[in-house]
Amino acid sequence: MEKKVTIVGAGHVGATAAITLALKDIADIVLIDIVEGTPQGKALDMMQMAPICNFNSKITGTNDYKDTANSDVVVVTAGLPRKPGMSRDDLLSVNAKITESVTNEIVKYSPNCILIVVTNPLDVMVNLAMEFSGFPKNRLIGMAGVLDSARYRTFLAEELDASPGDVQGMVLGIHGDKMLPIPRFTTVNGIPITELLPKEKIDEIGERTKVGGGEIVKLLKTGSAYYAPGISITVMVEAILKDLKKKLPCAVYLEGEYGISGVFLGVPVILGKNGVEKIIELNLTEEELEALKDSAASVKDNMDAMHKINMSER
Ligand code: APR
Repeated sequence: MEKKVTIVGAGHVGATAAITLALKDIADIVLIDIVEGTPQGKALDMMQMAPICNFNSKITGTNDYKDTANSDVVVVTAGLPRKPGMSRDDLLSVNAKITESVTNEIVKYSPNCILIVVTNPLDVMVNLAMEFSGFPKNRLIGMAGVLDSARYRTFLAEELDASPGDVQGMVLGIHGDKMLPIPRFTTVNGIPITELLPKEKIDEIGERTKVGGGEIVKLLKTGSAYYAPGISITVMVEAILKDLKKKLPCAVYLEGEYGISGVFLGVPVILGKNGVEKIIELNLTEEELEALKDSAASVKDNMDAMHKINMSER
């Protein structure tokens, strides 16, 4: 196929992204992992779905970055997932080292790719990927908003007994407890949810969304969510490869937008063939803006914490 996508990390999230992307039939896929056999085995298994599902994407498993050369999009899912009792920030030190080594390899073999980071804590890891890659900000994107919004939409659909696809809405800010669901911009086929639900219920659903990932970690006990994260990646990759100009919440580098600078944070953007083609600046209320700035402050705290860990280890 003309397009090539590499997925780093053939674990739960990476493999789910690979198979959902293959079902779209828009690119060849390279699945790479540090563990020998895992990406090869999973790729082989997935390829045996091709005749049944009728896709032509070629899926290759490898441990050699040479095979990832000249990818159009690279998705990084390599790293540890959360276990019960852990916050995303508890993954900081170990996943930072993985992100560093992975980013260096990607840059070597696909210097022109668009890089989507998924490894947690997301907002910090994508920032790190920028430091290590030197990529321009349009080619660096963190996946979180599509997933967090999907969780919000799912909980709202359940409450409203609505078809989930009819619920449109957005969650902005950090991929953590200070994320920001925006009820004002959330509708069911155009009807604002503020017309359909009392404020207390909307707030309750917002709070559940903020800890939506943790709810799944508690149930799974051995790791974190991967089905919805995997398909969220695929939505973003498809928007880029097909140049769909989709308006999606993504973690992107802010330089003054929303009065925030020097951090990656979830805001609505236009995703197309050049990656982040535009950051959409919404007219937020003072309260929403304050909450977004608070969210950005948390990302900065995490960045500082990570740099301190790095300094003490040198
Ligand atoms: N290079 C390549 N792959 C690596 C490396 C590395 N340096 N280090 C670890 N991996 C691989 C592991 O071998 C494993 O196959 O990353 C994969 C991670 O898979 P899982 O443990 O199943 O974790 P997963 O649930 O997929 O989550 C991955 O995404 O959503 C985030 O918080 C989540 O940070 C976590 C990441």
